[in-house]
Amino acid sequence: MKVLVCGGAGYIGSACAEYLIDNGHQVTVFDSLVTGHRDAVDPRAEFVHGDLADRDLIIDTCRKGGFDSIMHFAAFSLVGESMQNPSKYFRNNLANGINLADAAVEGGVKSIVFSSTAATFGQPEESPIRETTEQNPINPYGESKLCFEKVLKWYNVIHRIKYAALRYFNAAGASGNFGEDHNPESHLIPLILQVAQGKREKIMIFGDDYNTTDGTCVRDYIHILDLAQAHMLAMTAPESGHYNLGTGNGLSVEEIIDAAREVTGHPIPAEVAPRRAGDPDTLVACSDRAKAMLGWKPQFESAHTIIDSAWKWIQKHPDGYAK
Ligand code: UFG
Repeated sequence: MKVLVCGGAGYIGSACAEYLIDNGHQVTVFDSLVTGHRDAVDPRAEFVHGDLADRDLIIDTCRKGGFDSIMHFAAFSLVGESMQNPSKYFRNNLANGINLADAAVEGGVKSIVFSSTAATFGQPEESPIRETTEQNPINPYGESKLCFEKVLKWYNVIHRIKYAALRYFNAAGASGNFGEDHNPESHLIPLILQVAQGKREKIMIFGDDYNTTDGTCVRDYIHILDLAQAHMLAMTAPESGHYNLGTGNGLSVEEIIDAAREVTGHPIPAEVAPRRAGDPDTLVACSDRAKAMLGWKPQFESAHTIIDSAWKWIQKHPDGYAK
């Protein structure tokens, strides 16, 4: 199939583009490079340097491209930043997303696979989180993603474009060629690995008084290659749908640090710091629907495997994609 990967120079989009190409698909990456990296674009993909704010460009790209499907990773994703600057999040993640949806209509695209997030659930009422769990975002980031899920629902009803909204839990790990390089970095695993690299003295644990077994926050870490597999399956699913993507296995911040100590052989000093605003105690997915409806079979479920892949990538790219 011919696939347009918007945000294919970013962390998850780059690994997904690689996975699609490895599986015989033809990929065009569309990316503004505002947060993505040119070196994260798979060299086998065509590359269009553009921003979804440029409505004419994305419409033109879709009219000429003859794409069967669009994967939409291009978004801002920092919860804290969204609480400071909601405009940035609604403009990019919602309004610019509508440019892409319109371009899909103009280009006769049959399906859109959308990167949604566990953040659409806010402080969930139940654990594990199912697709039927009420969505109540507690920040503009989660709200902007939920709004776009609804946009896609109506484009499906009115324009017959099939869609899948994939709610990732905590994306982690690396493929052989592509890994995580955010600036600034705020995610737990890459920050822990910076300690193992000697770039940082210690990791700060944001709160140890949560209602969890060891008091630190519990999250569901899912390998980006398992996310990539879900995207490829969702692209050809017969029906539209919403899917929560995680392992179902919640791990605390302390458990992740311990696993990283074992993987890297580094003592990784840690210090407890105050809670970070807006962190729920526990976010764990129930992914039974993706398994049943898409035939999704995650392959890299242990924390050690996930951290080991990230560690290998960092050792090959000690300064990320920077030259
Ligand atoms: N944490 C620390 N110390 C750090 C960094 C993080 O203790 O230096 C903790 C956080 O408080 C949290 C956990 O590690 O409890 C994971 O934090 P991340 O920042 O790695 O990830 P989040 O769970 O905050 O957010 C991620 C994505 C969001 C998405 C969310 C959905 O970044 O975009 O998962 O689960 F919405």
